[in-house]
Amino acid sequence: KQNKGHVSVVLLGATGDLAKKYLWQGLFQLYLNEVNSGHSFSFHGAALTPAEKAEPLLFEALKSLSCPEDVPPDRCALVKDQFLKLTRYRQLKTSENYTALHQDILTSLAEEGLHEAGRLFYLSVPPFAYADIAQNINGSCRPPPGAWLRVVLEKPFGHDYESAEKLAGVMQTFFREEEIYRVDHYLGKQTVEQILPFRRRHQKFLDPIWNKQHVERVEIVMKETVDAKGRTSFYEEYGVIRDVIQNHLTEILTYVAMEVPRNLSNSDEVLRAKLELLDSLRAPEHSSAVIGQYQNYLAQVREEMEKNHNYFTNTPTFAGVLIYIDNTRWEGVPFLLVSGKDLDERTSYARVVFKDNAFCVHKQSKEETIKNSCQPKQIIFHIGNGALNFPAVLVTKSLFKPSLPYSQWQEASDVPGISFFGQPISDYFVHRPVQERDAYTALISNIYRGKKGSFVTTKNLLASWRFWTRLLENLNNETPRIYPGGEETITLLDFVIERGGLRFVSKEGLEVMGMD
Ligand code: BG6
Repeated sequence: KQNKGHVSVVLLGATGDLAKKYLWQGLFQLYLNEVNSGHSFSFHGAALTPAEKAEPLLFEALKSLSCPEDVPPDRCALVKDQFLKLTRYRQLKTSENYTALHQDILTSLAEEGLHEAGRLFYLSVPPFAYADIAQNINGSCRPPPGAWLRVVLEKPFGHDYESAEKLAGVMQTFFREEEIYRVDHYLGKQTVEQILPFRRRHQKFLDPIWNKQHVERVEIVMKETVDAKGRTSFYEEYGVIRDVIQNHLTEILTYVAMEVPRNLSNSDEVLRAKLELLDSLRAPEHSSAVIGQYQNYLAQVREEMEKNHNYFTNTPTFAGVLIYIDNTRWEGVPFLLVSGKDLDERTSYARVVFKDNAFCVHKQSKEETIKNSCQPKQIIFHIGNGALNFPAVLVTKSLFKPSLPYSQWQEASDVPGISFFGQPISDYFVHRPVQERDAYTALISNIYRGKKGSFVTTKNLLASWRFWTRLLENLNNETPRIYPGGEETITLLDFVIERGGLRFVSKEGLEVMGMD
């Protein structure tokens, strides 16, 4: 088979947590999928550490690589063996190190008579290291003309609008926009990837009701049971809004609310439609958010950051934010973004709650209308954490909570019996996918294929920060409400929207936090 060219993958931060947990596995899976594609590969695990120290750590991390269930064990073992042979550790510290890497790539390609298809640099390193690395890649390690360069960045992409713009500016001095891939791992989650295709598939039915006349509210929720222990120095600087709401939850919001582009495989169209939505978010007001902090947080910060007992912090570990969209489709519809640490349950989903009889707009036969079409009350895009531990899209006729244990669903909502636009629910209840795969595996494959639609462009990043920075500034002097944390935490989701403000109510109906 004719070789289509060689791809070199360089993973910086090769022995870090993210690399050990997800990135090597994602790269291995890429190799497994592409081993017969005609491309050849080499993998370079890199860090600042000298080889003697880092190499054993790297190969220890690579031991646990695994194949999906449908790959026969002997094929898996064989491919894993090949992958390990193609993987090297390199210290990448000085510009000479980068020049040496460049030379090595060129020499080995010449020896094997291969041409170069592209180079992928995955920067799994803290953002303060970006500038140096970017300069070195651009100055000493660019592939020759005709081969592509892709540079992958991990969040945080700045701290607010100004710092994001500055960091983006640094990247733009060294790389062209099409060379930069900013990862938001939620964009690789199976359900998140399904939102636009689902809306497109059912556009004829959904479009007439996906609007202010028929949607009561939209909730985008990511509740976590873990707390910030072990990473309070990071968390102190960021807090929940910067850590997950500005990025993960906002990405989900855009997919739910944006206009569905005509061609979903055209990345430019998708990114443009997203940007349009981001640009139409109404500037947040002070009363748009409630913030909280779990009780133990302060003690954890003092201990881990070696602060004395006079140290206090206003960093929110919980936030609920009410967003309105200024366009004709969504004017006046509340979008609620909620996330927090150390809460009572682990769950993440987006749900669109319809007004009564929204689905009646599709008149079928009279009998059919009454029996079926008017019943759905909500559509849930379940991301696959917590009670339902697999990704799913659901259409249900009662408003049961998405985090209700799966075993109780049938009772609560007659899920299997319900029909959606006259068709059986099974079409809309996307069960555990045949093969579950991790978000990073999907994203790494998209990087390799140059599918930019599932990454964050500079324009979209800045549009998102423009919105969130305003709110963060508004909240600057706000003291978060303290919540107990863990099991005892009230279900912060039973909220009431009043006079444009937000109030959260406990299970017992008592008001626990809110702002008017
Ligand atoms: C990360 C945040 O981006 O996402 C973490 O920094 C958070 O604080 C994590 O816990 C959640 O991701 P997932 O995939 O476990 O839902």
